Amino acid sequence: MGEHDRDLVSPEAEVDERVIESALRPKNLDDFVGQERVREQLSLVLRSAMRRGRAPDHVLMSGGPGLGKTTLAMIIAAELGAPLRITSGPAIERSGDLAAVLSTLHEGEVLFLDEIHRMARPAEEMLYVAMEDFRVDVVVGKGPGATAIPLDIAPFTLVGATTRAGMLPAPLRDRFGFTAHMDFYRPEELERILNRSAGLLGVELTREAAEEVAGRSRGTPRIANRLLRRVRDYAEVRGDGRLGIDTARAALTLYEVDEEGLDRLDRAVLRALLKSFRGGPVGLSTLAVSVGEEPETVEVVAEPFLVRSGFIARTPRGRVATPEAWTHMGLVPPPDAVYGAMAPVESAVPEPPGPPSRGPDRH
Ligand SMILES: Nc1ncnc2c1ncn2[C@@H]1O[C@H](COP(=O)(O)OP(=O)(O)OP(=O)(O)O)[C@@H](O)[C@H]1O
Ligand SMILES: [Mg+2]
Repeated sequence: MGEHDRDLVSPEAEVDERVIESALRPKNLDDFVGQERVREQLSLVLRSAMRRGRAPDHVLMSGGPGLGKTTLAMIIAAELGAPLRITSGPAIERSGDLAAVLSTLHEGEVLFLDEIHRMARPAEEMLYVAMEDFRVDVVVGKGPGATAIPLDIAPFTLVGATTRAGMLPAPLRDRFGFTAHMDFYRPEELERILNRSAGLLGVELTREAAEEVAGRSRGTPRIANRLLRRVRDYAEVRGDGRLGIDTARAALTLYEVDEEGLDRLDRAVLRALLKSFRGGPVGLSTLAVSVGEEPETVEVVAEPFLVRSGFIARTPRGRVATPEAWTHMGLVPPPDAVYGAMAPVESAVPEPPGPPSRGPDRH
């Protein structure tokens, strides 16, 4: 059951989730909840382009998984009344793959390039030229006799999405006229998203239940919608189908997602840090061993959210629990506990070599 638990609060989409998600996607800017600044900026970019009768500047969307990048790309095309072509970085293995897409674009079309940081390097260079001059150089022949034939392409708008803006080469980043930074959502924004989704799913969600689910959704619409579906399942099987506060709490307790959105692994890590290591500091690999997980799982899956929510701090001497961690787990810190919030935070510093990760004392 461990893996299932994990999926519940993972910001990544599950395998069959894409289909369900498309039904819940807002279709225009007005229905897109939150991200006020991005929405306002984008609306200006789109409106002024439409007024001039030109394709708008290329748009880059950067932000974590499940925050609405794909949704916004579709909205951009819809607002422009333009057709949308969808491809992704991993699908572009050679520059020829990109040339095939670019050369068949129609004027004003929106090209959505998802996971743009994973595109092949030679294709990146082709993309620079296409973005700037609306031209692709098609290479004909091989070796010394090869020639590049310039081919004009229709003016289009590129919408790129990335979870890792830092991995994009500067020349590519610079060619976007506008970058939308997608942030985590506030609880009240998630509540609005939940209410909207409940309406689309045809379920009755009370205000208290919406608030409860929103608070456990890790600032991420995808997780909010997923928790809502699990609460609905619970209500249909065990309740009267209505999603009230008691049903929401019972369902989320059953699925082991706590008030802060922490799941079983997150809590196991916190508990080990507090109980076995008196709040730290402790090296990541030592901590991982004590919860019976690979260091990478702890580092990639659990730690980022624990750090972001202020339960764990990274210090030069290892991971340290904050006062909030003790409170959240209902434990009293020993008088000599080192607090993360007071220790110098320097995440770039590599952790010290801890005790051997598979010592004889491991049980
Ligand atoms: N601002 C929003 N308002 C309402 N629903 C939203 C919003 N943002 C995201 N959602 C919902 O969350 C789900 C995930 O959004 P989306 O697929 O756009 O995320 P993403 O950023 O593209 O994620 P990934 O990086 O995994 O591709 C969708 O079902 C969408 O309906
Ligand atoms: Mg997406």
